[in-house]
Amino acid sequence: MITLDQIPMLAVPSMNDRHLEESLIINRLEVAVANNDIDEVYLILRELLEHTGLHYFDEEALMEETLFPTFKTHKKEHDRHLGELRSVIEYFDKHKDPRAVSAYIEGSLSAWTLHHADTMDRMLALFLEERATNASAAAK
Ligand SMILES: [Fe+2]
Repeated sequence: MITLDQIPMLAVPSMNDRHLEESLIINRLEVAVANNDIDEVYLILRELLEHTGLHYFDEEALMEETLFPTFKTHKKEHDRHLGELRSVIEYFDKHKDPRAVSAYIEGSLSAWTLHHADTMDRMLALFLEERATNASAAAK
């Protein structure tokens, strides 16, 4: 389970909101897996894919718009993560085996999500904060 204190607090509130929502979906997925609730796991996996896809789409648009210097490296990590999530879903749909999803949550998903937020997203948030500070200083 991801706890609130594990989610890194960044300088951009909307990024924190997305990370909190994502963590809550992951926690619900973990509960459904533990309950061996195949239908619920099926639905939550889709919800997670949709949420993650939209979250990355918005974040990437923001990076492009602000000419964030490491946009390409950051996007590559998003793409890799989305690809991994899609293959886990494909495997689950085929085998209906919640253990595979449990192994994914424990072995990658939770730790990766928190690490990404704490490193790449933190860099982006600092960049955006600095940009906003410079813009308001220039306006004075
Ligand atoms: Fe990101």
